[in-house]
Amino acid sequence: MNSLGRHFRISIFGESHGPSVGVLIDGCPAGLPINAEEFEAELSRRRPGKPGTTARIEADEPRIQSGVHNGRTTGGPIAILFENGDVDSSSYEKIKDTPRPGHADLTARTKFGGFNDPRGGGQFSGRLTVGLVAAGAIAKKLIAPVSVSATLETVGGDENVEAAVENAVAGGDSVGGIVQCKATGLPAGVGEPFFDGLESAISHAVFAIPGIKAIEFGAGFEAGRMHGSEFNDPILNAEGTTATNHAGGINGGISNGNELTFRVAVRPTATIGKPQATVDLTNGEATQLEAKGRHDACIALRVPVIVEAACAIALCDLMIAAQKTPRVMGN
Ligand SMILES: Cc1cc2nc3c(=O)[nH]c(=O)nc-3n(C[C@H](O)[C@H](O)[C@H](O)COP(=O)(O)O)c2cc1C
Repeated sequence: MNSLGRHFRISIFGESHGPSVGVLIDGCPAGLPINAEEFEAELSRRRPGKPGTTARIEADEPRIQSGVHNGRTTGGPIAILFENGDVDSSSYEKIKDTPRPGHADLTARTKFGGFNDPRGGGQFSGRLTVGLVAAGAIAKKLIAPVSVSATLETVGGDENVEAAVENAVAGGDSVGGIVQCKATGLPAGVGEPFFDGLESAISHAVFAIPGIKAIEFGAGFEAGRMHGSEFNDPILNAEGTTATNHAGGINGGISNGNELTFRVAVRPTATIGKPQATVDLTNGEATQLEAKGRHDACIALRVPVIVEAACAIALCDLMIAAQKTPRVMGN
């Protein structure tokens, strides 16, 4: 099912080349001011335009269908729709029977018995993340003064992001990247034991972003190479402030009052101009695919604001559960 969260629940819908994509948000408290400029500030950070991003440019104008009246949320479900305007499906006729290695073309076809929409990756397209960013804009307001920010750390292992992207594009290739994210001002006590711990909830939301392949909190995989005497964060006071932050601000799935930190790995894009081995599904024979059409050579360039949204949505859900959302509880 395409929905996430218990108390602040979102569902996303649409296909890359269908009439529209969007998000339905259930559980947003009434009275939250909503304005177009705040949405645009978030949505513009996801929009392509830089070298290494797709030539497909969408207006991304949020059409609010319900749940907002006179500029404030009503307490009802908020439905936000984005029309797809800049659609060109011509290059997907070939992909229909010659799946892109590394994309969801073949898994979707297998799972849905060929009834999936293959145009532009259908429901597996990065286009659907526009709804996540819109829901993230609302979640960020609800969890304020908690502040979530993500930045692109490296591309292809290189801190010189522009050069790494340029290099990949020049070679007709794609390239991955690492995005780091932090949340400041998160009070201690957010996160439910076992299944709805902070790591679980954030990971669940973050892996909804197509193309994310790994996540690590705090020291992450490095923790597996450390001793306890190095890893354990010394506690400095009764509020739980620690001298180091190898745990990434989380103990037992619960925020400990320090900065929450995590990093994600964004894969290199599946669609590349170079020949790749695949199979022709009409006759089962091996063939080569050289993808044509518009695509992002480096997805990671567009991902930071989407990771922020996923994190804010997960935090919002858990903060409402823990009764730590100022706007909900009036404290
Ligand atoms: C903002 C964004 C843009 C993306 N653009 C492309 C693209 O142009 N071409 C492509 O092959 N994949 C693109 N992707 C990634 C695919 O949607 C993703 O790789 C695919 O659904 C398979 O999922 P997986 O990589 O998580 O296994 C994009 C993802 C995001 C978040």
